Formats: sequence, structure tokens, C-alpha cells
Amino acid sequence: MRFIHVSQYDYDTMQLAQPIYDRMKRILLAAGRTIHPKYLDRIKEMKISTLLVEDAVSKGISLDEMLDMPTWLDTLKVIQDSYELASKNQLLNILILQKTITTIIQEVQKRKIIVLVPTSSVANELKEYAHIINVTLLAIQIGKSMGYNNAQLRDLAMGSLLHDIGKVLTDDPHQHPNAGFDYIRRNREISLVSAHVAFQHHETMNGKGFPRSIVGEQFLETAQICGLANYYERLISEGDTLPHVALEMIMVKSGIEYSENVIQAFVNSIPSYIPGTKIKLSNEQDGVVIGIKTHLHRPVVRLLENEEEVDLASNPSLMIKMIQ
Ligand SMILES: [Fe+2]
Repeated sequence: MRFIHVSQYDYDTMQLAQPIYDRMKRILLAAGRTIHPKYLDRIKEMKISTLLVEDAVSKGISLDEMLDMPTWLDTLKVIQDSYELASKNQLLNILILQKTITTIIQEVQKRKIIVLVPTSSVANELKEYAHIINVTLLAIQIGKSMGYNNAQLRDLAMGSLLHDIGKVLTDDPHQHPNAGFDYIRRNREISLVSAHVAFQHHETMNGKGFPRSIVGEQFLETAQICGLANYYERLISEGDTLPHVALEMIMVKSGIEYSENVIQAFVNSIPSYIPGTKIKLSNEQDGVVIGIKTHLHRPVVRLLENEEEVDLASNPSLMIKMIQ
């Protein structure tokens, strides 16, 4: 399977590889189906611009690096319920949140890399929750690469799941980290570290963040991880920035907005090219990224003309020239 832009959908050669859900999380189109042109308009109305499809190009690419749909839907529901409780000024259901955290940490621990469900592939009303899942998965992945133990990963995951909860409590976008912090502190079972992840996720080391413009050491490492994950996720899902470009935009922030350690961990854990990406190589051959073998940023590519597999990690003179 592979991700395509909805405009690239071809009725004759592609089937859906993953169901399309409406805003109530009901299946609108099941996996294995083709999309009738009249449904394509409906999908566009739902602001879905990315589809996960199966076709000849994607043959053999399973995207096991992505959460399975039942786990993804369960996580989405827990986040949605939590943010709804906050909007009614009620306390969180900590047990359910902790169970979710256990599950998603396990999901990240068992994979070498994580492939995100793009927010552009879900209905408009679910995008914000899909974004939160992605930020949490990325944060855990970075924490894992920094050698965090389970307790540290749990604090980071809880803070990441709740990082934007202040948005349902205030209309002032610049105040959502404070509002979130105050609300999370009322839930006494949640650690101070997790509350600070929400409080500081828009800060930067150089004092140019908000709400407090803190500098240097005051900017907690866990909050840096969530902040960076949030920045990256917004770039790739809202700005349509390609992952390898987003990675470069992140590298220039090293030692300026985020610590060198956190940036290094990010670069060491997030791949430049997602399996299923159709590419053109510097020698003009067309191919598709099929996975990562030894080097996170030099994937294995299958050539379209002869199905030969080329590991870019052992072919240093070949570059990915273009994404198609
Ligand atoms: Fe935020």
C-alpha cells in the first residue's frame, strides 16, 4: 500500500487499502473497494486529500510501521473523549488514558520506524485528534531514541496526548499552554512533568516562544521533544512539506530553538522517505521506496521498469532527485 494525493487516484488501477471513515468514525468506504467518481467529490468535501491505496506500484509494501486501524480508532476516541471532558470542565479519566499510553508505547517499541496516519487522510472533524496521535507517536519515538525508560516515556506520552487540551478552554491561541497546564494540574494523578509538556510545547530555547518566552535550561527536555514533534507534524500535514524537507528545516534549529541532543535524536529516529513514496532517482530511473534496511535516510528503492531492488545505503552515488 502507499499514500497518494486524491488527484492521483485512478479508478482502473487502484483500490483503497484502508477504510475511509466519516466524521462519526463510521466506515464510508471499506478497504479493497474502488472509489466511484461521485464519492471522490464527497471525499474532497470532507477535506480528505490523501488516500492509502493498493496498486501495482505498491505491491508488497505493507506499511506495518503504521498503527493498525482498530488501535488508531481506539486512541482517537480516548483523545476525543478527554478533550470533551475538559471542555465541560470535568476531570479526565486517568485509567483509560494510562491504558492508551501503555498500548501506544508498546506499538512504538516494537517498530524500528513509525509511519503516521496523515491528518490529510481523515475527515475534517477528526484532523485535530489525528494530529495529537501523531505528535504523541513522534514524541515517544524520539524519547525511545534518547534512551528514555518506561516512566519517562509515560510522562512524555501523557503530556503529548494532552498538549493542546488548553485549546478547548480558552479562545486566545497564545494562552492555550497556560490554560492546559492549569487544567492538567487539577487532575492530581498526572505528573508535573506531563503538565509542563503542555505548558512549554510552544516555547523555544532562544526565548522566542510563548507563553513565557523561557530560555535555555528552563525549557524541559520532555517539552522540547513534544514541541519539536508538534512543529514537524504541522509542517508535514498542514503545510504539505515533504518529510525530507521538514527534516532539513528541523536540523537548522539545532542549538538555537531546541537542544542539539533532541534534534540529533529526531534525525536518528524519523526517516526522510516513507515506504510507498514514488520517486525519481538521479539517474532518471523511476522507483518506489519499499523500506529501510540499514540507513534511516537512505531507503531501499524498487525500480519500476524491472522491479530490481536498490539499497541506497550501499549505492552512495545515487540520489533521490524528486518525489512523484
Ligand atoms: Fe499547541
